[in-house]
Amino acid sequence: MAFVSLGRLTRGSLAVVSRTASLRRVVHSRTRLASTFSLPSKPSTTYADISHPEDNAPAEVRKEIEDASRFILPVYARPPVVLASGKGNYVFDSQGRKYLDFTGGIAVNALGHSDEQFAKAMYEQAQQFIHTSNAFYHRNAGALAAEIVRQTQEQGGLGFAVGTPPTDAPSQNDPRVFFSNSGTEANEGALKIARKVAKERWIASGKDGECSQFRVVSFAHAFHGRSMGALSATPNPKYQAPFAPLVPGFDVARLNNTEDVERLVTPDTCAVIVEPIQGEGGVFEAEEGFLKLLRERCNSTGAVLIFDEIQCGLYRTGNLWAHSKLPVECHPDIVTMAKPLANGYPVGAVLMRGNIAQAMTVGSHGTTFGGSPMATALGLHVLRRLQALSGDVLETGAYLEARLSQLAAWYPELVGPVRGRGLILGLPFKGEGTNAKVVEMARQRGVLLLTAGKDVVRFVPSLTVTGAEVDHAVEVLEGCLGRLA
Ligand SMILES: Cc1ncc(COP(=O)(O)O)c(C=O)c1O
Repeated sequence: MAFVSLGRLTRGSLAVVSRTASLRRVVHSRTRLASTFSLPSKPSTTYADISHPEDNAPAEVRKEIEDASRFILPVYARPPVVLASGKGNYVFDSQGRKYLDFTGGIAVNALGHSDEQFAKAMYEQAQQFIHTSNAFYHRNAGALAAEIVRQTQEQGGLGFAVGTPPTDAPSQNDPRVFFSNSGTEANEGALKIARKVAKERWIASGKDGECSQFRVVSFAHAFHGRSMGALSATPNPKYQAPFAPLVPGFDVARLNNTEDVERLVTPDTCAVIVEPIQGEGGVFEAEEGFLKLLRERCNSTGAVLIFDEIQCGLYRTGNLWAHSKLPVECHPDIVTMAKPLANGYPVGAVLMRGNIAQAMTVGSHGTTFGGSPMATALGLHVLRRLQALSGDVLETGAYLEARLSQLAAWYPELVGPVRGRGLILGLPFKGEGTNAKVVEMARQRGVLLLTAGKDVVRFVPSLTVTGAEVDHAVEVLEGCLGRLA
């Protein structure tokens, strides 16, 4: 195959070749020295044909699907494939067919499938205990909370500049972590905390009557979860309408729209919740200047600023948080996380500044399972290993982005410019529904992808994904686009 060299990627810039103009173009600033990589000069046709047909499943697979669905609430659209196992970045179906998994379990399996060290950590913890309840102390939750805080201080985030030394003596102002079981619950907790912060401040300031600062601002295309609070901050009629009326007091602004922020974030606002990079909604990134404005507006109105980093955080961008490298003037009061924290074992967390935590007292929030010995042992194991992968994510993410960037030039009638950062990337398609068609076609050629929003194909593979796996996924995608063109 003929390759076009991208040349040496230097600190601070990533040159990506635009095929039409054959020019090098700086598309992103990078903070790390990436190595040389080459790009093909034309799209691959190797995977034009279907290799994993779905229309002639054997009778035993059809029976398996029937059994797997019969008593399950039918709220998920699933393809006619039964997954049986996984190893690394591959999964295998019940017919023994192999698929390259570029969904990462929807940005969850950061270390891939059946990781041996992870399995060992799980086995070892299972021999101690799995659950104790939050009526008692155990060692693991405190250790994971300390590691989350330590990495945030070292890597930047939550008001800490990169390289902040750990604080020695315990203080009232120490950041705090609340453990939940999912992303939704982390957001639900964050919204409750923001409401309590507003009430406590209202009372402390000696104001009379009911606290009027209870409103929440979220953004168009956001996804924060399906519980009533998190759903109320998820302005998608498909998800919200069947369950209305929702929690009162939620306002929707447009991402990166400064006028909306000035109009909607008022002294009645207790929280602003935003994904620094929206995942489900279509991989839209909040601009640095916009986040700074949000921070300023929250400072002036007294609203709590919440960054939902459930999908974009925990090294998916190559940095601990999507906001880690931004100036502290853009940082939030609360960060929510979940998905990859325990590589698929359910866990979520709310990380907050000390001044926010002070509003929460014994009994004001809680959970049975959250912060269990098992979840937090695994979280600690995973978080330490994810930090070591950050350089790889920057490099592989840059390569995936460069390869996807070629597609807009090769198939201008089908796709637009790639969006996102690191290993959370989105390829917008022209025309609604083409994205779902492409996901289906790729699966029938042995690569699992996700949609996002109405017209985007999303790439959130495990953080261990290799350059060769990127090549395979993109070549299959090119095979599909070649068929559609
Ligand atoms: C940004 C974001 N927030 C919240 C959630 C909800 O998390 P969970 O499904 O773990 O409840 C998701 C899930 O996709 C998400 O992407």
